[in-house]
Amino acid sequence: MTDEALTSRALELASEGIGRVSPSPLVGCVIVSAEGQIVGEGSYIFSEVTHAEIAALRQAGERSRGGTAYVSLEPHAHHGRTPPCTEVLINAGIRRVVCPIEDPNPLVSGKGFEELRNAGVEVVTGILREAAEKQNEKFICWHRNKRPFVHLKTAMSLDGKTATVSGDSKWITSVEARAEGQKLRYEYDAILVGAQTIAADDPSLTDRTGGPRDRGLLRVVLDSRLRTAAGSAVVATADEHPTLFIARDPEPEKAETFRSKGAEVAVVEGGPRDTKAVLGELYRRRITSVLVEGGASVAGSFADSGLVDKFTFFIAPVVIGGAKAPTSVGGEGADRLAEAFRLKDITVQQAGPDLMVTGYPA
Ligand SMILES: NC(=O)c1ccc[n+]([C@@H]2O[C@H](COP(=O)([O-])OP(=O)(O)OC[C@H]3O[C@@H](n4cnc5c(N)ncnc54)[C@H](OP(=O)(O)O)[C@@H]3O)[C@@H](O)[C@H]2O)c1
Repeated sequence: MTDEALTSRALELASEGIGRVSPSPLVGCVIVSAEGQIVGEGSYIFSEVTHAEIAALRQAGERSRGGTAYVSLEPHAHHGRTPPCTEVLINAGIRRVVCPIEDPNPLVSGKGFEELRNAGVEVVTGILREAAEKQNEKFICWHRNKRPFVHLKTAMSLDGKTATVSGDSKWITSVEARAEGQKLRYEYDAILVGAQTIAADDPSLTDRTGGPRDRGLLRVVLDSRLRTAAGSAVVATADEHPTLFIARDPEPEKAETFRSKGAEVAVVEGGPRDTKAVLGELYRRRITSVLVEGGASVAGSFADSGLVDKFTFFIAPVVIGGAKAPTSVGGEGADRLAEAFRLKDITVQQAGPDLMVTGYPA
């Protein structure tokens, strides 16, 4: 098998950790013996502690001597919850390491490769770099930008509406599209909405995929004065599902009521309208990724501040019309077309009768 095919297998193994590694990265590893046989495979899962390289080496045993390790992310060279993977690879007699990308953490980036090379191990980097970066986009953003990765998701009609003029919005998209939306929730540390979405829909904002999660999905509500009703579903279930209200000047009594029900209330300088401050608060809480689900005002404020890393639009084959019917992204918007978000790396997927369009700001 080629280096590319084996790197691709390491990426596939890494993806087994989706939903289960935050705040760590996804990592997969394949060990190939000197004779060219796959003798060990491993994936990283945060709660199982063992790193992918160590799991794969354990499987390989003595057959790793003189072999090659294909790892999806630079092996770490420092003592953390586990001994340095570089040391373990060197001691296992690995002669060659093939790895697409360096660790984005500036404190350790490049150090793993350096240590391997110093020990006489051949290091090959860059194969499938783009795919490896995309796979760990949340972790990379968190380290490089010191804020969570922001994915804006919205559901709308063909003409961009999220409800009729009278406010009827349930449901524009199909069961299949909503199931895809649930899958997205599974991949994120947090889901975020504005106070008006809670007032209008009283959503539960939970991950109902049933997939194993190491951290509960954090529900974040941007609500300056804590106008959300104490009887709303998010507050009522705050002792079961982590819930955070981000406010500016909340009534102390209301904050106390929310806290007594299990929700957290954080007051950020500038209030929740300051999206940078909101992300700063989430970064402090080691949230690596957030799925912004709306409504239009919140979507608009993240878009206006240029703090969207990825967009997903679910588009249903329905035309609602009405100049005053709400659209999916509010805020100020672009003044000129040249300033609008033009997306790249677009994927288009069918979800029942609907389209799921995903892309990255160019
Ligand atoms: N189709 C979809 O995908 C989808 C998804 C979600 C919601 N919705 C629909 O969208 C509607 C609600 O949308 P909406 O635009 O009226 O309200 P929204 O975006 O849900 O909430 C807006 C409110 O959030 C508070 N807020 C705090 N920080 C904010 C920030 N950084 N940016 C903007 N608002 C902030 C403000 O209230 P304070 O000043 O009181 O803090 C503001 O009035 C509902 O009808 C819901 O059904 C549709």
